[in-house]
Amino acid sequence: MKKVRIGIIGAGGQRCCFHGGCVFDGVPNAEVAALCDNVPEKLSHANEMYSKILGCKPALYEDYHEMIGKGGLDAVYVAGPNYLHREMAVAALDAGLHVLCEKPFALSLKEADEIIAAAERNGRILGLGMQMHYRERYLKIGELIAAGEIGRVTQCWCMEHRPTFIAMKDWVWDPALSGGAVVEKNCHHYDVMDIWVDSDPTLVYATGGILRHFTPHGFRSGIIDHAWIVNDYANGVKGMVGINFCEDSRHHREFGIIGTKGRIDFSTADGEIVHLRKNTGETADLVFDATVRGDIFQDFTDSVLEGHAPLVTAQMGRRSLLVPLAAEISMREKRAVHVSELE
Ligand SMILES: NC(=O)c1ccc[n+]([C@@H]2O[C@H](COP(=O)([O-])OP(=O)(O)OC[C@H]3O[C@@H](n4cnc5c(N)ncnc54)[C@H](O)[C@@H]3O)[C@@H](O)[C@H]2O)c1
Repeated sequence: MKKVRIGIIGAGGQRCCFHGGCVFDGVPNAEVAALCDNVPEKLSHANEMYSKILGCKPALYEDYHEMIGKGGLDAVYVAGPNYLHREMAVAALDAGLHVLCEKPFALSLKEADEIIAAAERNGRILGLGMQMHYRERYLKIGELIAAGEIGRVTQCWCMEHRPTFIAMKDWVWDPALSGGAVVEKNCHHYDVMDIWVDSDPTLVYATGGILRHFTPHGFRSGIIDHAWIVNDYANGVKGMVGINFCEDSRHHREFGIIGTKGRIDFSTADGEIVHLRKNTGETADLVFDATVRGDIFQDFTDSVLEGHAPLVTAQMGRRSLLVPLAAEISMREKRAVHVSELE
């Protein structure tokens, strides 16, 4: 079987060594050929895990430029901190490698456009870590909507509760490095809401504050931990996302889509069973479990080998940033923000 030889940047972080597992585990056409992390202890931890779990013998690097320049790779998985996505992704693309870049794609539209331009000028595949897009549930909801099951969509909302970011690494605490909580976490929710609404966001109104997020050193962090974010879409749909990252609850989220002929809602409270309720009184409780295209990592290697676009295109990744970027400005400056201001 032909395999994609992959180098991982940021290999020793939480994303790449999560819950005792490794990314690309179970992807038969992936070969993790190199690992890079600029913290030696993290690099050796990653090496131990990847060698044991995937049975590979990756080359090890503390400098990603050296890894990219060495040759022998087909692709790079960029899993460094958000503020380094652009420079890591562009360096790999300009070296002729395909790139799977973690979310959030970038910290500004300008940075995202630089990555897209690098992929285009080098004719390389650009995949994005928008994992919710790979859950069949969210795509099936889009199909129900497109089939007219709830009529014309009028409103769409999500409420997300997370534990605090206390255990998270320092860079997340600094909005200049992470993009802020809404960019870091809620780009996922806008990615799937955009599928259902099928339109571009326009105007964003947000209010948020900081209740729990103080650094261990006694300084207040810039991470908003509770907020309401409301937005208009070009087709008239109204969107709303509420976040609460300041109670000590488990991760919990709810979504709702309201149309002229019915509504769809679901919640982690009951395992995200999709409840379809029509104005006629007809109801259905639908369970969708599977992932689509084998999940992000399988889709990326298949896209590289088969030469087609990944399920989440660069433009979808870019669009998932629009409301989060505008919301961060809206909360900071206490005003409505047109997404056109981001260009
Ligand atoms: N798709 C998802 O659902 C999902 C889930 C978790 C994290 N993420 C994303 O993955 C990325 C990494 O998150 P994380 O939680 O693993 O963060 P992390 O801080 O735990 O890991 C980042 C790693 O990058 C390394 N690093 C930093 N600078 C480097 C450099 N110049 N060269 C090489 N390595 C360098 C760090 O030492 C660290 O090991 C973030 O963009 C995050 O938003 C995505």
